[in-house]
Amino acid sequence: MKTILTVNIGLCGFGTVGQGVWKHLQHSRAELTSRLGANVEVTRIAVKDLKKKRSVKVPVSKLTEDALEIANDPSIHVVCELIGGTTLARKVTLAALKNGKIVVSANKALICDHGAEIFEAARKHGGHFFFEASVAGGIPIIKALREGLVANRFPRIYGILNGTCNYILTQMGTRGLAYSEVLREAKALGYAEADESLDVEGWDTAHKASVLAWLAHGVWVQPKDMIVEGINRLSPADLHNATTLGYTIKLLAVISRDFKKNELSVRVHPTLLPINSVVASVGGVFNAVAVTGDVVGTTHYIGRGAGQDATASAVISDIADAVALIKHGKGTHLTSESYEPNQKGCKLAPAERIIGCYYVRLTVKDQSGVLANVANVLSKNKVSIATVIQNPAHTGAASLVLTTHESNEKSIGQALKQLTNLDSVLETPLVLRIGNFTD
Ligand code: NDP
Ligand code: HSE
Repeated sequence: MKTILTVNIGLCGFGTVGQGVWKHLQHSRAELTSRLGANVEVTRIAVKDLKKKRSVKVPVSKLTEDALEIANDPSIHVVCELIGGTTLARKVTLAALKNGKIVVSANKALICDHGAEIFEAARKHGGHFFFEASVAGGIPIIKALREGLVANRFPRIYGILNGTCNYILTQMGTRGLAYSEVLREAKALGYAEADESLDVEGWDTAHKASVLAWLAHGVWVQPKDMIVEGINRLSPADLHNATTLGYTIKLLAVISRDFKKNELSVRVHPTLLPINSVVASVGGVFNAVAVTGDVVGTTHYIGRGAGQDATASAVISDIADAVALIKHGKGTHLTSESYEPNQKGCKLAPAERIIGCYYVRLTVKDQSGVLANVANVLSKNKVSIATVIQNPAHTGAASLVLTTHESNEKSIGQALKQLTNLDSVLETPLVLRIGNFTD
């Protein structure tokens, strides 16, 4: 009988994603063996708490509390880093790469913070690093950019990259619930990060945008060099107002490159999108990415962006690439050099020059002259009002919702500071960008 190759996998982390990978490797064992021409065996699993109850049963003999033991185990070919965070995850990843192993990771925070170091370690020591699950959950967006669209330069990539936030915004819009209430559901469903502020404050989307910007443009852009705003100040009323205006609100990552000026801008913020655009129609835990390539035009990618099964699908696709690499000595290699912004690659566009239209929500005293004062501040800053909606807020107060004609970040920022200082403005104003992307 012909013997086939067995590839040994070490799972570091056995939470939502790790258990999903185990479950689907068991369920699809026969198909995977046949498709890959190899057996895939999970031989070791690292966890923090050996006594914790798991939703899947694994032999106790496979478990360890020492993830580095797996990274240094010569019998393990592929290390899946599914712990999260950037401390132990970094140590495990670098140790495994230094041992020439293949590392599979779902950890976008790690790649954003330490990507340059990780890819350098892989190149230096002959290891490999695969990361399909790090962006957009089950959507194979990494492969799409790196392989399917390799002929293109990318003037714009934008989309929904956080399943938790899209789930929250969709539920707030359809059920009128407050964001904190829906956040509890998203956590229970396994969508949210261990530290959920990463999701709702926009950092997780920023980490993913950083990974996509690097793939598309070869430049590592850190969140500190982006506009990053989350969804935690939005209320069901904002979703309702957006609908009235013909929009829906999505937390978007927008990566734009002006090839003439050689400038790159990466930003993350809740955005009003025209209700009939492809990305606006994507709800729940789903992610959607619109990629505009100079050769292909715009292509869209939609699928579940978080959760056990979708993420396991992406991790297992990387395991399959790892098996192909072990069997045939070839696979997806990253050979292109990468740069810090403003090195040989492109420059970062100054944020204040970004042009767009805005949605402004103000809670104001419900008395005469207030609208005139607000209009005066906007006008002084050359921000022109397009529409006004006034709704009652609490007693003696009104909610004033304005949209603007085209302006820029500098003007709206200045206007916002001055509005905040008006006696008649009772709360910090909320400003959202309007994205007139129709594709
Ligand atoms: P969980 O919090 O569910 O799981 C983390 C796992 O890491 C747990 O099994 C935990 O052990 C283990 N762990 C923590 N600290 C240690 C330690 N010191 N030594 C050994 N093991 C440790 O996270 P997720 O599965 O949700 O996420 C894992 C990674 O995947 C993260 O990088 C996340 O960003 C990413 N990701 C998550 C998605 C999702 O939908 N959940 C989607 C895409 C990416 P124990 O179980 O004993 O506590
Ligand atoms: N917390 C992340 C999300 C997990 O909700 O999108 C997937 O990366």
